[in-house]
Amino acid sequence: MEKTLGIVKPDAVKAGRSGKIIDIIENAGLKIIAMKKISLSKEQAKQFYEVHKDKPFYESLTEFMSSGKIIVMAIEGENAIAKYRQIMGATDPAKAEKGTIRNLYGTNIEHNAVHGSDAPETAKEELAFFFSKYELL
Ligand code: CMP
Repeated sequence: MEKTLGIVKPDAVKAGRSGKIIDIIENAGLKIIAMKKISLSKEQAKQFYEVHKDKPFYESLTEFMSSGKIIVMAIEGENAIAKYRQIMGATDPAKAEKGTIRNLYGTNIEHNAVHGSDAPETAKEELAFFFSKYELL
């Protein structure tokens, strides 16, 4: 069993796609063990995406991520990290496989509907950023 962090980004929340996205996650056999709808301050978004601080898109990404409500989810299942990444599709919706979340609901490489942790260590850190250990039981 593995846990990963999923985020429904402000573009998809605003467009009313969160229900459809949750449906895809649950239909893939993954369980959402904790979930909340929150707003990030610019500072929090910068902290969350700190690994990208030297990238040209850091400023615009953190502005976007603090522009509206997001839904953070702790997702659990067998191979949850890889499985969730598979159903999200490639970062760029234009390159995402047909039927994946980003293919269906993403607009461009930045406004790409969802986020997911990329490895066990990052999943641990990202889950701890949003959830206490009691929320993850
Ligand atoms: P995410 O999976 O949340 O991880 C980092 C985010 O940065 C990514 O999804 C996109 O929203 C954004 N991103 C990645 N590459 C680019 C890029 N080339 N231009 C703009 N935004 C990007």
